[in-house]
Amino acid sequence: MGLWIYLDGRFVNEKQAKISVFDHGLLYGDGVFEGLRTYGGKVFRLKEHIERLFRSARAIMLEIPVSMEEMANIIIKTLKKNNLKDAYVRVVITRGIGDLGLDPRKCPKPTIFVIASKIKLYPQEYYEKGLSVVTIATRRNLTESINPAIKSLNYLNNILAKIEATNSGAMEGLFLNNEGYVAECTGENIFITVGNNLLTPPIFAGALDGITRDAVIQLGKEMGLNVEEKLLTRYDLYNADECFLSGTAAEIVPVTLIDGRKIGSGKIGNLTKKIREKFHQLTHTDGIPI
Ligand SMILES: Cc1ncc(COP(=O)(O)O)c(C=O)c1O
Repeated sequence: MGLWIYLDGRFVNEKQAKISVFDHGLLYGDGVFEGLRTYGGKVFRLKEHIERLFRSARAIMLEIPVSMEEMANIIIKTLKKNNLKDAYVRVVITRGIGDLGLDPRKCPKPTIFVIASKIKLYPQEYYEKGLSVVTIATRRNLTESINPAIKSLNYLNNILAKIEATNSGAMEGLFLNNEGYVAECTGENIFITVGNNLLTPPIFAGALDGITRDAVIQLGKEMGLNVEEKLLTRYDLYNADECFLSGTAAEIVPVTLIDGRKIGSGKIGNLTKKIREKFHQLTHTDGIPI
């Protein structure tokens, strides 16, 4: 039967869900997207994801042709149509169909599609044993060129990093910015703990303003930790007590090896475990019902 995809105002079966070869999302990666999760029939941080989508669109001067409320309804309707309670939702807005030139003014109507599907997580063993991460040579996009805060369809920077990580036999790649400070991973934000301190790079270091990151910062504060957004070097990571990544798809995933160095004891740390538990509680108590 396949999934029902929302595409420009109607639901089409996944086999029929097609977009034009002249769509600038495809030709130039010109567009923005979001990835959301639902837990037990509730959408986690729906408003925050929609707000970030609109901020990304504003940054590339793309006017989303529906309101924030309408976008929320489209997401909920797509979940209902597919009868999904625990799902991953991808929302994509492209510049739309234009000619072969770059000029976005030639694209009169943005394309909108929403895919709601079953979620695929990292294999369970990574949550139990932790991930290995390597620093990759490709630097994070400069904030003054393609700002990583924009969740754009141009993810080539991240894909190159993923290829490098895979080629090195690691599960994830660590991005440094052009000054050598830690930015983030290919699809997750990064945190370390040192004693009672929970530290993460600031957004200006070249990271996405992660919604899971935000939840972790809030949880850390509630747990009485000293939470700081701080410029970090690889030295700080190597000498941390604990390290973990945060993201919508991965949730909270421990990191136990960076560039061949064991982090802390080399096993999942207690604070990481606690934050993971608290995050799970939050995802099951917070959220907008489908
Ligand atoms: C590059 C990058 N960083 C961080 C994140 C984590 O952000 P969030 O927690 O909002 O999913 C993502 C995932 O969307 C991402 O693609």
